[in-house]
Amino acid sequence: MDLTRGVLVTGADGQLGAALGEEFAETRVVRLTRSDWDVTLPAPALPDVDVLLHAAAWTDVDAAEEDPQEAAAVNVGGTQHAAELGVPLVLFSTDYVFDGRKGEPYVESDAPNPLSVYGRTKLQAEAVAGDAAWIVRTSWLFGWTSRNFVRTMLHLGAERDEVAVVDDQRGCPTYVGHLAAAVRGLLDRPRGLWHLAADGDCTWAEFAEAIFEEAGFDCRVRRVTTEELGRPAPRPRYSVLRSARPEAPRLPHWRAGLRECLERLAS
Ligand SMILES: NC(=O)c1ccc[n+]([C@@H]2O[C@H](COP(=O)([O-])OP(=O)(O)OC[C@H]3O[C@@H](n4cnc5c(N)ncnc54)[C@H](OP(=O)(O)O)[C@@H]3O)[C@@H](O)[C@H]2O)c1
Repeated sequence: MDLTRGVLVTGADGQLGAALGEEFAETRVVRLTRSDWDVTLPAPALPDVDVLLHAAAWTDVDAAEEDPQEAAAVNVGGTQHAAELGVPLVLFSTDYVFDGRKGEPYVESDAPNPLSVYGRTKLQAEAVAGDAAWIVRTSWLFGWTSRNFVRTMLHLGAERDEVAVVDDQRGCPTYVGHLAAAVRGLLDRPRGLWHLAADGDCTWAEFAEAIFEEAGFDCRVRRVTTEELGRPAPRPRYSVLRSARPEAPRLPHWRAGLRECLERLAS
């Protein structure tokens, strides 16, 4: 895709927004934070660009259960406002549109059935974005900014001998740098639905153990069940994403992403 006019990134201060800003840095990047455009409102006057990478979202899965209207205002209303700009659109969606009962990797043709408010708002956002958008379902994002599992574990691992982590949810932890590079490749492929997540899969407990191992922390992981942790939002037990599209960009393994992220955090 010709990016002469540049790209517009919403949610530019989020973890994916930061990675997209870097990935497209040699083109013109218009980075928009919430203070530039609260996406629950129609867009202000914006420069002419070739593509809109819509990474702004309500991402607090548990809080969405308490405040479904506000979560929908950001995720569905925000996507509506982004689509109304009439610029080629990339929408980021989630593995949480699935209920996890399949037990083997989810591909684009699998029927969604979200368990949570967050998952439902993202599925509605997909519909609002429409067939003219690239809809990128991804999962378990982590990067060097914002709130995420890797940064939380590094914080806890430095302070504690043991942390309790769920061992009955399996997915693909995806490094935002790898996803941003794949999105660049996607812009030369047809629009529509694409599953883009890291290679490999693990449980949150296995991911935590890998984080401590790579970081050299002597912190034990106590494997617990979802019930024991008692979070407000239901989550799929199995949400490994794979693409059935032969031309889909392939992402590196999550462990390679973890190493890159830790190097970035240490630099
Ligand atoms: N995180 C994951 O594990 C995951 C998994 C699958 C898919 N996704 C999807 O990937 C995309 C990027 O996620 P992320 O992990 O980068 O999220 P993030 O780090 O939470 O960033 C989201 C960004 O959206 C901004 N935002 C929230 N409400 C807004 C509003 N009303 N107007 C403008 N900006 C607003 C936030 O700004 P403030 O900081 O001001 O709130 C934040 O900078 C989202 O669409 C998400 O649903 C995420």
